Amino acid sequence: MHVGTTPSLMQTADMNQLRPTPDPNARLQAVLENLFPVGVGLSYSARCPAAASLLPDEQIHTQGMIDNRRIEFTHGRYCARQAMRKLGVPPAPIHKLHDRSPAWPAGITGSIAHTGEHAAAAVARTREFVSLGLDLEHAGPLEAETAELIVRPNEAADGAHAKLLFSIKESIYKCIHPVVQTYVDFQEMEVDLSGPPGTFRAIPHTHNFDAATIAGLQGRYRVGERLVASACWIRAGR
Ligand SMILES: CC(C)(COP(=O)(O)OP(=O)(O)OC[C@H]1O[C@@H](n2cnc3c(N)ncnc32)[C@H](O)[C@@H]1OP(=O)(O)O)[C@@H](O)C(=O)NCCC(=O)NCCS
Repeated sequence: MHVGTTPSLMQTADMNQLRPTPDPNARLQAVLENLFPVGVGLSYSARCPAAASLLPDEQIHTQGMIDNRRIEFTHGRYCARQAMRKLGVPPAPIHKLHDRSPAWPAGITGSIAHTGEHAAAAVARTREFVSLGLDLEHAGPLEAETAELIVRPNEAADGAHAKLLFSIKESIYKCIHPVVQTYVDFQEMEVDLSGPPGTFRAIPHTHNFDAATIAGLQGRYRVGERLVASACWIRAGR
């Protein structure tokens, strides 16, 4: 796994500095965990466990879902509850809002991601974080036609870089949508990668919301052999 690191990440997150572990899933858990700052609980799972289940109140959201989508939805909520447990938050339903975003229990915010059989969730307390964004994508280049829709002219990118921008922009959307409450197109968001390696910032190009509301957004990413992962957050009280 190629790892971009920032000085602060070097202290905690550089995979090469983590204790060697033979379990690639435990390594991915550690990498994803360290994308977020302290105060965020993260859970990664490579495959939906047979024992994973929705809470009774959540079942309504799976009506009409095909099997794969129901498993994906269940897997995401399984990770979310594992992540909540890390924060000491008891299991609670995570409803699905009309805009497809998760409705977190009172005092909690978070983000869910899945790609193929992988799923992960990040959660935090709202007294510390306004919002979180997490995205996972399979590694590999983005198709040229899709890249055209994702990449802004000044973000010139080959297929692999376009995949990274795609993941970063999706994580940004998951983080900011609950805040700005409006759709934000890929072309309305520029990704600034000029900071420390492995970090990004969001530069909105839109009149649909006040850029100041997301000015505190910070993000980190990792490009691995299997997955591309992007994480961002807006802290409370800034
Ligand atoms: C919402 C979106 C980002 C989700 O990405 P995806 O590749 O479809 O799916 P992922 O597996 O990465 O994530 C899905 C999860 O995102 C979460 N999600 C969905 N809509 C969301 C929203 N509006 N706000 C926050 N989180 C949302 C859900 O938890 C969902 O999982 P679930 O349905 O099982 O609960 C994407 O579908 C989308 O609409 N993108 C267009 C807007 C955009 O990305 N703009 C970029 C510039 S800011």
